[in-house]
Amino acid sequence: MEEQALYGARMMQPGLTTADSEENSLRPQHLEDYIGQEKVKQNLKVYLEAARRRGEAMDHVLLYGPPGLGKTTLAGIIANEMGVQIRITSGPAIEKPGDLAALLTNLQEGDVLFIDEIHRLSRQVEEVLYPALEDYALDIIIGKGPSAQSIRINLPHFTLVGATTRAGQLTGPLRDRFGVLLKLELYSPDELAQIIRRSAGILDQPITPEGAYELAKRSRGTPRVANRFLKRVRDFATVLGDGVIDQDVCLMALRRMDVDELGLDELDRSLLRAIIEMYGGGPVGLETLAAALGEEAVTLEDLCEPYLMQMGFLTRTPRGRCVTHLAYEHLGLRPPETLAPEDGGQQSMF
Ligand code: ADE
Repeated sequence: MEEQALYGARMMQPGLTTADSEENSLRPQHLEDYIGQEKVKQNLKVYLEAARRRGEAMDHVLLYGPPGLGKTTLAGIIANEMGVQIRITSGPAIEKPGDLAALLTNLQEGDVLFIDEIHRLSRQVEEVLYPALEDYALDIIIGKGPSAQSIRINLPHFTLVGATTRAGQLTGPLRDRFGVLLKLELYSPDELAQIIRRSAGILDQPITPEGAYELAKRSRGTPRVANRFLKRVRDFATVLGDGVIDQDVCLMALRRMDVDELGLDELDRSLLRAIIEMYGGGPVGLETLAAALGEEAVTLEDLCEPYLMQMGFLTRTPRGRCVTHLAYEHLGLRPPETLAPEDGGQQSMF
């Protein structure tokens, strides 16, 4: 079982890579430093304050939304704001019920247990989690057959923070045991520019407002992408420029990284092109598309589609994925006559 226990001053960090700890150094530790997700932040502030005033553990929280939007960061903030420790693990890392039991029995009163990709927990492990969430108890079966006995172990009052890119794949019983459901949305370019300027400050990296905005516009609504671009463009500024990230360095670096003006990368463009060139603009089923591109369906669904849909380049219909008029234009292709701009990407019947 793989487990990371972590965050801020209170986190031990075994098994973390340099990239992980660099990402950690850019994560805000308190809600007031967290940029964007205003609705989530305002509600979370109330729930945290209420739990603190009552001297209770915060209720269990489910964070859902596309990858890279700050779910782990928010879990860390919840722990910091409550003044407790956080233990971080993930659904696939908890292989057996015993792995979960070991995690739960090592928690202290009020601690946060963060389970990333919680939709990937096995049914067996999920069953152990139910009484832990509801009654703060573990039911352990000792022995086999008619002489088997169940004993109950009490657990400290803890907060489970679960994160998933796909809330729809959670079983009903698990979803129902979260008292707080928070949906994270893609960030606006203005919010991403603020995040980039904050990160540049932490890295002691000079950046112009135009440079920050250029990166922000191309970061697909995702802080993880924004921070990754910042670090790579910083390399170009150091080696090929004068050390300052301005708009010119951003344009040069992003061109060399094959990121276009709207932040689409090679995979996004291949996806759109495949629908156009192989399936006449769609509709095409996700699995078929994934096989044609040699990618996993979840990669396309989690990483490419949220941004392509937000940009209005792709629609999901009951019969499959379709590209829109805008996608043809963005790729410099002529949309077919049958695809009217107002169709919103649905092929017209006549
Ligand atoms: N770094 C990554 N995500 C962030 C956010 N939402 N606010 C501030 N810094 C961040």
